[in-house]
Amino acid sequence: MTALETDSPTALIPAPLSRDLGDGGARPRTVRLGAQTALAAAPGTEDTARWLRATLGAAFALPLPPGSAEAPDTLTLALDATLPAEGYRLDADARWGVRLTGGSPAGVFWGAQTLRQLLGPAAFRRAALDPGHAPGLPEQTVEDAPRFGWRGLMLDVARHFLPKEGVLRCLDLMAAHKLNVLHFHLTDDQGWRIEVRRYPRLTETGAWRERSKLGHRDSPLWDPRPHGGYYTQDDLREIVAYAAERQITVVPEIDIPGHSQAAIAAYPELGNTDVIDTTSLKVWDTWGVSPNVLAPTDTTLRFYEHVLEEVLDLFPSRFVHVGGDECPKEQWRASATAQERIAELSLDGEDGLQSWFIRHFDRWLADRGRRLIGWDEILEGGLAEGAAVSSWRGYEGGIAAAKAGHDVVMCPSQQVYLDYRQHASPDEPVPIGYVRTLEDVYRFEPVPPQLTREQAERVLGTQANAWSEAMDGQPRLDYQLFPRLVAFAEVAWSRLPAPKARDYQDFTRRMTEHYVRLDALGVGYRPPGGPLPWQRRPGILGRPFDGSPPNV
Ligand code: ACM
Repeated sequence: MTALETDSPTALIPAPLSRDLGDGGARPRTVRLGAQTALAAAPGTEDTARWLRATLGAAFALPLPPGSAEAPDTLTLALDATLPAEGYRLDADARWGVRLTGGSPAGVFWGAQTLRQLLGPAAFRRAALDPGHAPGLPEQTVEDAPRFGWRGLMLDVARHFLPKEGVLRCLDLMAAHKLNVLHFHLTDDQGWRIEVRRYPRLTETGAWRERSKLGHRDSPLWDPRPHGGYYTQDDLREIVAYAAERQITVVPEIDIPGHSQAAIAAYPELGNTDVIDTTSLKVWDTWGVSPNVLAPTDTTLRFYEHVLEEVLDLFPSRFVHVGGDECPKEQWRASATAQERIAELSLDGEDGLQSWFIRHFDRWLADRGRRLIGWDEILEGGLAEGAAVSSWRGYEGGIAAAKAGHDVVMCPSQQVYLDYRQHASPDEPVPIGYVRTLEDVYRFEPVPPQLTREQAERVLGTQANAWSEAMDGQPRLDYQLFPRLVAFAEVAWSRLPAPKARDYQDFTRRMTEHYVRLDALGVGYRPPGGPLPWQRRPGILGRPFDGSPPNV
């Protein structure tokens, strides 16, 4: 028995609003879940009931048969509209069992994540280490609710494809940390990852590249293996449904007018054909910002409307991300077609063309009951009402957007780009960007002091971004995300004091327990002492940086 993970004192991450261990925590009694424990799920809590049966059922060989809420030895799930949205209350009492009440189905689900942590690290395994062992938790009451409604992770599956299983696993890991938005970066210069029925070449051609740059774009090395992959529409429906069962919204990103070379390689008429021979363009094999951007033509607009029609059919998310970042203007400057359009519409030069693109899709999405969100460059040239901004070039874009009455998701590259290195040591695998340690992320504050209380209401929340130029698969993704995503999740969920006053020592103490959970989940995180030998990538050039935002 001693070798097994048994009930443990259970530090919670992210930290809840309040936790009461009854008699001061001296010797709380233990609530046991056993073969007889029933599960009583009120209407609206079915997803959580299914999740508990699948997860705790597997980890402890518990059948959790249906039961009634009033009976003893019952795990009861209920809704209570007086609780905050996404909030929950967990009561564990040895006399009757565990009662989980949520302000919404999401609240009940987040409460179930807390319950799993309270049951010890074995609750994070997929089969029972000791099927006869009745897991338990100390008697207690936890009351909790998130600080932000948008607690996101952006996954770049364009630079390196992440097969569907990896995405589902990522959703599980997000749920375990109470994150609720997957910003899914599906298209870029280096790959198109979403099946579009009307335009099959987007994936036949656009999902594959001949080779990949190994490391930073200045690196002389190439990975000569062709790379690619895409999600079929059924894969995406599965991903969206799997996320929804975990109270996670998938926000798709389809990039316009820059970061579009893969689409142009598939359909050359989308490019600036009067400037370059777009028929010879390939899906890009290196990193950076491609000069090959969309032509500002009606053909392009109709094409992307058709693409977005299929996107809307697949993704119920209110927000649809259209990129909008890093659109070089050289081709538009040289293009007679682009210049005619500027003259015809009396636009403010090439910058005006960029906002003409964005405004078109802003209206188009609004007409269909959706809302546009884009990177902060979309502010340049003015934004239509209702559009929201992902602030990545520091806080500035987000501050300007909030002051102008737009909603904002804070994701400044200097703070929460998790592809950036997490230590100054040369042992870090393909080190790029700033050094951003676990402590740096823990001290990240999504709401800048420049905003008034009213303007701060515009900050919907925050997200961590994981760009994948230097992340070529699951092990690298695990390494870059963890443990920092855990600190990020606490920043997004918990009501922490101001950055300097945050108790990082307490967080690291709780992390010692959390690492055991991550081990049970099989997450290849960066150990506190630095990369394990197999996590290093000696000889692959990165680009350590400490000035203005780099582009890999
Ligand atoms: C970005 O990092 N270009 C949004």
